[in-house]
Amino acid sequence: MSEKIIIFDTTLRDGEQSPGASLNVQEKVEIARQLARLGVDVIEAGFPISSPVQFEAVERIADSVPVVVAGLARAVEPDVKAVYDALRQTEKFRIHTFIGTSDIHIKEKFRADRYGKSLKEKRNTIIKMARDAVAYAKTFTDDVEFSAEDAGRTDTPYLAEVLEAAIDAGATTVNIPDTTGYTMPAEFGAKIAALRETVGRIDQAVISAHCHNDLGLAVANSLSAIQNGARQVECTINGIGERAGNASLEEIIMALRVRGDYWNVHTDIRIEELFNTSRMVSAFTGLVVQPNKAVVGDNAFSHESGIHQDGVLKNSHTYEIITPEAIGATRTKIVLGRHSGRHGLAVRLRDLGYRPTKDELQHIYQKFLDLADKKKEVFDDDLRVLMGDEMHRQQEYYELESFHVSAGTNALATGTVSIKAGEEVLRESAIGDGPVDACFKAIDRALDTDSTIESYQVRSVTAGREAQGEVIVRVRSGDSVCTGRGVSTDILEASVKAYLQALNETNTIQRETEPTATVAE
Ligand code: KIV
Ligand code: ZN
Repeated sequence: MSEKIIIFDTTLRDGEQSPGASLNVQEKVEIARQLARLGVDVIEAGFPISSPVQFEAVERIADSVPVVVAGLARAVEPDVKAVYDALRQTEKFRIHTFIGTSDIHIKEKFRADRYGKSLKEKRNTIIKMARDAVAYAKTFTDDVEFSAEDAGRTDTPYLAEVLEAAIDAGATTVNIPDTTGYTMPAEFGAKIAALRETVGRIDQAVISAHCHNDLGLAVANSLSAIQNGARQVECTINGIGERAGNASLEEIIMALRVRGDYWNVHTDIRIEELFNTSRMVSAFTGLVVQPNKAVVGDNAFSHESGIHQDGVLKNSHTYEIITPEAIGATRTKIVLGRHSGRHGLAVRLRDLGYRPTKDELQHIYQKFLDLADKKKEVFDDDLRVLMGDEMHRQQEYYELESFHVSAGTNALATGTVSIKAGEEVLRESAIGDGPVDACFKAIDRALDTDSTIESYQVRSVTAGREAQGEVIVRVRSGDSVCTGRGVSTDILEASVKAYLQALNETNTIQRETEPTATVAE
């Protein structure tokens, strides 16, 4: 009998920690619904104590999906209680508590003498904190996961002691994070095997792997963990996450599926939903999937050389081990146009994984008609970006009313913007180094901001002259970095919208309370 691998999706928690990838609550709910259709077993929805918005997201996701929802907590009572408060209305939920266990984490994050003077004393304190946090979580739910942060760099015998304490206190899942993406696949696998051998009562808990991609090994390490007995893997769609990201869900799944002859394990993932899920996450986060990304990249099924094309025409298996259809990426794109009705649009959006409300559909339909006036054929990717726009529209404080630019060879570029801010309309003009810069400076003046632009990218959503341009701007304001996305057939308009969206986002973040990164010192 093949054994089941539990898929713990952390796109909405660790994935959202990708620099600039912040999602609003509505986008998170929409992604969570798609993750449920994909068939993940657990959705980690956020870190409730970290901000009111995170708390609300965890609460609303739990209310919207028939999947076990987990919330993250440091190994301290207020964090654990916050997860419980966010999830208490749900029938089945998981509290996921963690604490750093490597020497460097212990020495640096728990410097104060109250944690102990020597490393040995501090290590004992960590064991006690882990045990207490799990026992406290256990008073709220049976489903408690414990993570030994930076387990990849933790001395294995000590790690075994920590995990044993967590299991004694009631942890039902023990997670081994390679937090810094430091380990090699064989080494990580050996660590899992050693823990299976040495941790007392390990059979009472599921062993989980949580791998980061700093050396490009997150998926390989996760597979090595499975090979050595892990029965849960933590991963994200498109591999998004802190720094170089987390293990990519679609890559792990397809490795297990395509090589079913090698792996005697299964998951409950419906692989035909992989492509839609990938594209939805990309559209909402503004993190573009690299063309050569395994499984879901645009080039994953393109064949450039004549020899390959000839082979694929004769039999696609000559050069393809996955068909696009298998992951839900059709070769022929369905096109909508001016004469497509609201029902046709609703059906296509549904096929792409979106479930807009009646009001949203009404609004999107109007935008769809405007777009169909400008470009004859509306493709799936056009619809995805329309949905992305719609989700943001409802959260925005600053809205573009109009803009005007004047620019050209040997002429000074000037931009004028008119922005709605609640009841007020703010108008400003500025000159700049080209029309985009002029508009951005006019916006800065109108909103009196001191943000700096970290990156500005333009891409065409689909092919052709009439294609929509998508602009992604990353803006830094103080410590926070926010991403804005704007789409239009006019790239200047897309630029202005993207910049405004990023400023709306920084505005929201400034209203949130940020967590301290470590247990209070
Ligand atoms: O990478 C990590 O260690 C984590 C833990 C909080 C599980 O994300
Ligand atoms: Zn992580």
